[in-house]
Amino acid sequence: MPNPSEHKRTVRRAFTKQAAAYAENASVTDPEWIARLVEATGVDSSDRVLEVATGPGHVAFSFGDHCAEVVGLDLTKAPLEIAQEKKRDSETENVAFIRGDAEAIPCPANSFDVVVCRLALHHVEHPDYVVQEMARVCRPNGTLAVGDLVVSEHSDRAEYHNTFERLRDPSHVRALSISELIHVFTEQRIEIDHLRTDSVVQNVESWLSNAQTPEPRATEAREMIRKDAEEDLSGTQPFWHDDELYFRQLNGIVAGHLLE
Ligand SMILES: C[S@@+](CC[C@H](N)C(=O)[O-])C[C@H]1O[C@@H](n2cnc3c(N)ncnc32)[C@H](O)[C@@H]1O
Repeated sequence: MPNPSEHKRTVRRAFTKQAAAYAENASVTDPEWIARLVEATGVDSSDRVLEVATGPGHVAFSFGDHCAEVVGLDLTKAPLEIAQEKKRDSETENVAFIRGDAEAIPCPANSFDVVVCRLALHHVEHPDYVVQEMARVCRPNGTLAVGDLVVSEHSDRAEYHNTFERLRDPSHVRALSISELIHVFTEQRIEIDHLRTDSVVQNVESWLSNAQTPEPRATEAREMIRKDAEEDLSGTQPFWHDDELYFRQLNGIVAGHLLE
């Protein structure tokens, strides 16, 4: 891929390192989470679907059960290899995987009925470019949906949350608030038809070990979350249970149709 930015190298390093753990991570494989995204799109059996930043393809395979064809696109080879292996093992025929950049999707305009992206906008430097590209490759009146971590509407609290997410995983750039996500959609003339949030409880130690966060970054992230538990600094409501520290991540789903 020509001229990858330094950040894209960081993404590839991070998702090469975490590929196997990510593919098995119970909070991302959760079928209910994926079903909510599938349902939000109202996907049809004749639809052609693109999943942007598919990783190991959990979302792509689920869409494959409901539509004619799915293409999963990702920047990083290691998770795509896991997706390809799963495709071979399950003998799935209507899901294909390609390598490419979400900020410059290697597909023609108007080529998909549904374009989705889950848990990836916070890993890119220009989420607006990604949604612009998603809108370009979607047909008029087609459906676009994003599912992602969302942060507080208050910028100081949002920054506190994004800082401990970045300490855990340097490929995290910035999760948006719900209002920012809505703004990115409406800028592309997408009519919002569906909006919901759900919270996921994260055990801090599992969350750190899934990303294989090295010291001293892990200690710094833990310290920030401990302080947050005492001082309410991010909106993630950290709490202790049986001597273990937890916090709540809010996941948002925004879906809509592209105005003609
Ligand atoms: C947290 S994983 C999400 C995978 C999948 N969407 C899911 O929900 O399980 C983020 C993925 O985004 C990919 N990614 C990040 N930046 C990208 C970009 N600019 N273009 C394509 N993929 C990208 C990473 O390689 C990684 O596989």
